[in-house]
Amino acid sequence: MSSDILRIIEGGLNNDRRKIINYSNRLAARLEAEGDVQLARCIKEQIQNSTVKSAATADAMRMLPLDSDSKLQIVEVIPEDATRTHIVLSDGVGRQVGDFIELVNHSEELEQAGVNVPKSMLLYGAPGCGKTSIAHYVSEKTGLPLVVARLDGIVSSLLGSTAKNLRKIFNYACSMPCILFLDEFDAIAKARDDNHELGELKRVINSLLQNIDGMPASSVLIAATNHPELLDKAVWRRFMTKVEVGMPDDESRRKIILDLTAGFKCPFVEDSQKMKIVNNLMQKMSPSDISTLFTKLKVKGIINGSKTIDYENVLVAIFEYDGKEQPQDSFVKFLNNNGVNQSNIAQLLHISARSVRNILSKK
Ligand SMILES: Nc1ncnc2c1ncn2[C@@H]1O[C@H](COP(=O)(O)OP(=O)(O)OP(=O)(O)O)[C@@H](O)[C@H]1O
Ligand SMILES: [Mg+2]
Repeated sequence: MSSDILRIIEGGLNNDRRKIINYSNRLAARLEAEGDVQLARCIKEQIQNSTVKSAATADAMRMLPLDSDSKLQIVEVIPEDATRTHIVLSDGVGRQVGDFIELVNHSEELEQAGVNVPKSMLLYGAPGCGKTSIAHYVSEKTGLPLVVARLDGIVSSLLGSTAKNLRKIFNYACSMPCILFLDEFDAIAKARDDNHELGELKRVINSLLQNIDGMPASSVLIAATNHPELLDKAVWRRFMTKVEVGMPDDESRRKIILDLTAGFKCPFVEDSQKMKIVNNLMQKMSPSDISTLFTKLKVKGIINGSKTIDYENVLVAIFEYDGKEQPQDSFVKFLNNNGVNQSNIAQLLHISARSVRNILSKK
């Protein structure tokens, strides 16, 4: 128990909120086991009620690093308790992200046992499938603020400044307990296409590698990219955990639809046949696209006062999703093929029942 108290003091002196919380939780559990239930409860309440941001995060927010030329901020600090991220992950991705969170949360114990594992994770995959959301989720679950550096903004036309900016970002992130999140990580590799001298680009990549290698063992690094194929092999190798965040499987998509429609009247979600159709039709849509589609339908449902999302309206939204002008005949056939009756089609498309019949009778 006294070692827990020492760790809590150490955490307080180093502005390490995560350490304070971890060891306080441990202390509370021990006290409870030894019968001091009241003190254990007080400790747990203190942890839960603590709304004060860590002093380290607050200090850090005051002295964000700036680009030397433009004087613009090159990172953004997002406090660990800024949002509640809700993401649906497939079993495989969920397990890998969960393991990474465990690794970060037990890093003290691992260090004490002499096991030094680099805490770095590379998230890659199609746009809109949750890479950025996962970084926020890890921040929430580890109690570490997220220092976000979008590399597309940092890779300036002057690659010389890029190396300088990278150094500033890494120095900054290593100065406090946090997660450094390098979003749009492929921007560095993409600079290859932009008429830069190859030697110059190599120097930037080397500077990135040196910065990653120079991170202290306690640091946490997450990077995200839509273009893993553009990453330098040496960069790729630096990451201990690599997770492909792909399009959701049927079950994950079903959960995403259920989450997004919660709180609204949506009769189709209770109808397994219709739910299956909607789920199938959304196969090529990313979770981000699905979320946008349902947000639009919710807006309509709120404005018309019904707080309802009907099956037919979901079909219309899916058909119109990519915004391309499509022939009316295809629209009518699409609705008909997915179980909408002729009079409903006429109503939805503001055409006569006879026009619907004519279209459907065509071969
Ligand atoms: N797996 C998921 N479960 C639920 N919602 C998701 C999921 N993935 C994405 N979303 C929704 O899509 C939005 C955008 O996702 P996010 O920015 O995390 O994707 P990304 O993979 O980082 O995309 P990009 O490659 O374009 O940066 C999120 O705010 C969330 O609403
Ligand atoms: Mg992203």
